[in-house]
Amino acid sequence: MIMIQDDLKAAAARDAVKLVRDRQIVGLGSGSTCKIFIIELGRLVRNGLDITGVPTSKEIEALAGDNGIKTLAIDEVERIDIAVDGADEIDMRLNLIKGYGGALLREKIVASKADNFVIIADESKLVEKLGDRGIIPVEIKKNGCEQTLKELGRIGKAEIREKDGNFFVTDNGNLIADLKTRITDPSAMDKEIKSIEGVLETGLFISMADFAIIGTEKGVLHMGGHRKKTGVKA
Ligand code: A5P
Repeated sequence: MIMIQDDLKAAAARDAVKLVRDRQIVGLGSGSTCKIFIIELGRLVRNGLDITGVPTSKEIEALAGDNGIKTLAIDEVERIDIAVDGADEIDMRLNLIKGYGGALLREKIVASKADNFVIIADESKLVEKLGDRGIIPVEIKKNGCEQTLKELGRIGKAEIREKDGNFFVTDNGNLIADLKTRITDPSAMDKEIKSIEGVLETGLFISMADFAIIGTEKGVLHMGGHRKKTGVKA
């Protein structure tokens, strides 16, 4: 049977739900794969699972509420037991590019507070080298954005993201610059971008993900395995 991309996302999301335990604080990532995860988690909550979600975007906060999942804001929690999020690119070392949906700043804060950071995605997100699919999303301040864009232009081709003819504005009231460049050293690239005045965060998530659950045509693939608390082995 040929599976479509949405089936592969759903397979990864359903597998990730099995990692969540009673009374945990759960980071709720953004994007279409995470939406399936949240709907599945909501089913378990209706059947008695007691968890608290920490959403990474306003849209996800609303979806969690609609599915009966109680939530806390990022700054109301010191640590998160497990954060589950999607990704736009995943390399073999589980370095990521995120932020195609524009939620990267909150996603990174939630991931950095998480004891276990689990990625869910379909196999189209696997890349040999970060940057293969196109861009690095960069969250930047509105004030002085022209200068920030000019500085980013020294690294690659940078454009302010637009939506419906206007600048795309993040949940935090900032802009996204989409940077197209060649990445040889992802960690050095992350530092270089962050050193630019006006840059708030990059979509490069380096050495952050502990585990990835990938929906493939051949079944669900587990990558990582150096899990701290999920107990799942790749
Ligand atoms: C949101 O800004 C992103 O980081 C998402 O996590 C990423 O775009 C994955 O989204 P999909 O699950 O829709 O591919």
